[in-house]
This record gives sequence, C-alpha cells and structure tokens, in this order.
Amino acid sequence: MQKQLQNVFIFQFYIYINMKKEAQQKYSPSLRFWHWGNTLVILGSLVTVLINSTLFDGGSARDFVQKELTDAGANVSPEQARALVHGLEDQVWGIHIYFGYVLAALFLYRIVVEIRADKNQRVIHKFLDALKTYSSNQAFKSTARYELGIKLLYLVFYTLLLIMVVTGLSVAFDDSLRISRSLSHSLKEIHGFCMYPILGFIVLHVGGVYFAERKNKKGIVSDMINGGETNN
Ligand code: HEM
Ligand code: HEM
Repeated sequence: MQKQLQNVFIFQFYIYINMKKEAQQKYSPSLRFWHWGNTLVILGSLVTVLINSTLFDGGSARDFVQKELTDAGANVSPEQARALVHGLEDQVWGIHIYFGYVLAALFLYRIVVEIRADKNQRVIHKFLDALKTYSSNQAFKSTARYELGIKLLYLVFYTLLLIMVVTGLSVAFDDSLRISRSLSHSLKEIHGFCMYPILGFIVLHVGGVYFAERKNKKGIVSDMINGGETNN
C-alpha cells in the first residue's frame, strides 16, 4: 500500500514538473500540434487544387484522354472524354473537401487553444504587446516594426483562414443551408481568390522563418518542434 502511494506521489510530481515545463514553453504542445497539422493539411489542400488546375484543366486534358482512349482502340467523342475528365476532377474536389473538414476542425481547435492559453501566449496579446513596444520604443524602432509586422501577418492569416473555412463549408453544404446557386458561386469565387494571399503568406512566412533562423533567431524552428523556452 505504501509502495502504491509512493508511486502515485511520484506520478503526481512527474505531472507537476511537466506542467511547469509546459507553462514555461514558448510554444505550447497544443499550438505546435495545430501548427504542423495545419501546415500538412493546407499543403494537401493545395496539392488537390494544383492537380485540378493542371492535370484536369480544360481542353488539353480532354484531348489527352480522347487520344489515349482512341490509341487503346476505343471510340470516344470529345463530350465523353470531357465527362470523364469532369468526373476525375470531382473526385479530386472530394478529397479537397475532406482536407477542408479537417482544416475546419483544426481551426476550431486553434480557437480553443487560444481561449485556454496563458494571456501572454495569446496571439492577440502578442500583437498588442508588439504594438505597445513599437509605439513606446524609439531606440529600436525598426526591430519593433519588424516584430509588429510579423504579428500583424499572423492576424491577417487567421482572418483568411476563417474566410476559407466559412466559404468552403458554405459551398460544401449549399443545398442543406439553402444557399442559392448564385450566392454559392460568389462564395466559391471569394474562396478561390483567398488562396492567393494565403500562398503569399506561406512564401513570406517560410522565407522569414528561414532568415530568422540564419540571423537573429537561431533555434526558432527547433522551438516550434520542441516547444522552446519563454523569455518571460
Ligand atoms: C502552410 C504552411 C504554414 C502555415 C500556414 C504556418 C502558419 C503559422 C502561424 C499562423 C504561426 C503563428 C502561430 C501563433 O503564434 O499563433 C506560425 C508560426 C511559426 N511557424 Fe509556421 N506555418 C507554416 C509553415 C511553416 C514551416 C514550413 C515552418 C518551418 C520551416 C514554420 C515555422 C514556424 C515558426 C518557427 C513559427 C514561430 C514564429 C514566431 O514565433 O513568430 N512554419 N506559423
Ligand atoms: C487554405 C485552404 C484552402 C485552399 C487553398 C482552398 C482552395 C480552393 C480553390 C482554389 C478552389 C477552387 C475555387 C474555384 O473553382 O473558383 C476550392 C474549391 C472548393 N473548396 Fe477549398 N480551399 C481551402 C480550404 C477549404 C475548406 C476549409 C473547405 C471546407 C470544406 C473547402 C471546400 C471547398 C469546396 C466545397 C470547393 C468547391 C469544389 C467544387 O467545385 O466542387 N476548401 N478551394
């Protein structure tokens, strides 16, 4: 019995130590899980868009299918070839929509992470903090501006992600939500358009992280993997 109590005590102590460690981390395990999960799903989603806009795009795909099937001995009209390409395109959109559901679930998870995070780890707090430093610190104005720019970029990205999730789900469930054809079409256009600033964010972000890692923020990528230690 005493041995069991001792084990329970050691276990509790272990949890306490790890909780303390977690609280001191720069990026919490939940934020890291979201970050890498979100990265993978967005990349997956982009691959589906890339496939549909290259392999299954318009007339060239139809001509290719018709030629291949004719060479194989089938008698296929351009309309039949187009129907096949369209079917394949729809299959790929189906995969895109599955990625979309996961992305929507991850976005919800990110909101919960934000609500449950310590005040100083919240993205809004980090932004306001950077704004305060920028407004008050005259000596390091350019560094403060750079930090503020990064935090602003994250806020813009989260807003774009929200738009992607809302418009994507609305198009996916347009019938059940009784959304008219024309509204659904407009939402799809907004959805498609927002991909470009998201691509811009990814390029800036990955490039920025690369330069930060090489210059003044060594270990930043490792911190996003292992958690890192906070300066607070
Ligand atoms: C689809 C690709 C990606 C997206 C959408 C993305 C998004 C984000 C977001 C929104 C944050 C801010 C997290 C927060 O504090 O709320 C962040 C931070 C970070 N990301 Fe990414 N990320 C992507 C890819 C990558 C890759 C490939 C790397 C590593 C090479 C990376 C490394 C980091 C690091 C180190 C941070 C912390 C930077 C800081 O403290 O300012 N990310 N990312
Ligand atoms: C950052 C992530 C995402 C990117 C880059 C992206 C990109 C795109 C693009 C470029 C299109 C084509 C739009 C057009 O034809 O005008 C599209 C279609 C679509 N997306 Fe997304 N999307 C993302 C996330 C989502 C999410 C979260 C959902 C929610 C389920 C979703 C659902 C859809 C649906 C239903 C379509 C229409 C497919 C069809 O034409 O049958 N997407 N997406």
